[in-house]
Amino acid sequence: MASPSRPTRVSSPLLLGLGFLIALIAFALQFYIRKHLRPRLWTVEELSLYNGTEDGLPILLGILGSVFDVTKGKTHYGPGGGYHHFSGRDASRAFVSGNFTGDGLTDSLHGLSTMEVKSVVDWRKFYMERYIFAGKLVGRYYDSQGNPTKYLKGVESKAKRGAQLLEKQKIEEAKIPSCNSKWSEQEGGEVWCETGYPRLVKRPGDIALTGKISQRCACFKEEELGRPGLEVYKDCDYLSKSCRV
Ligand SMILES: *[C@@H]1O[C@H](CO)[C@@H](O)[C@H](O)[C@H]1NC(C)=O
Ligand SMILES: *[C@@H]1O[C@H](CO)[C@@H](O)[C@H](O)[C@H]1NC(C)=O
Repeated sequence: MASPSRPTRVSSPLLLGLGFLIALIAFALQFYIRKHLRPRLWTVEELSLYNGTEDGLPILLGILGSVFDVTKGKTHYGPGGGYHHFSGRDASRAFVSGNFTGDGLTDSLHGLSTMEVKSVVDWRKFYMERYIFAGKLVGRYYDSQGNPTKYLKGVESKAKRGAQLLEKQKIEEAKIPSCNSKWSEQEGGEVWCETGYPRLVKRPGDIALTGKISQRCACFKEEELGRPGLEVYKDCDYLSKSCRV
């Protein structure tokens, strides 16, 4: 008769192994959480400690009130790195202004163009994809409950509008191809068309996007040259295929 206690004896090293494995996973998980911080709410003061100067602490950065752990980019975000001024704070504006001095390091996007606001939102996406989300910063973009503020919603809808305008402009401009262009120190600039004739045209979308009127060079067919708003390049013949600029 086989001993009924036998199966227990067989399984006890198995159980031991399993227990060990669980302990190992728990330990690794704890280490992981400590290293990567669980997403939480941050105050400006708390965030400011994670600026990369303290070796044992992770490096955190805020953008549009989202906080990211950028420790793996220490060479850039740590002291002496090119992005160090983004560490330990939300300097959303500086992502597009490039102004890292004094009040330039603010999270206010006041007065920025639609295109610039879209660009900051694109930066946030960049961090979402490449770094670890570490929570939300209470202030301009999130309230004390971690809910998005009106300001954040305004920023996001402005960026969305910008993306739509940009798409519309791309589709619109694809109908009339842009000129080829080149520039060299000796010969200066030149624009030309393989088919059609170079004309300067306003880019109407740009006023809404950047607040400025800009122009592009586009190639129009001969029968289109009578359209309003087309500008012949200075010192260039009406039917020349190439113009110096
Ligand atoms: C940077 O962080 C350290 C602690 O990690 C803190 O003592 C220091 O005040 C912080 N610097 C700024 C400018 O907040
Ligand atoms: C940076 O921003 C500050 C504050 O808004 C301003 O005084 C300064 O002139 C700006 N610097 C540059 C280079 O734009």
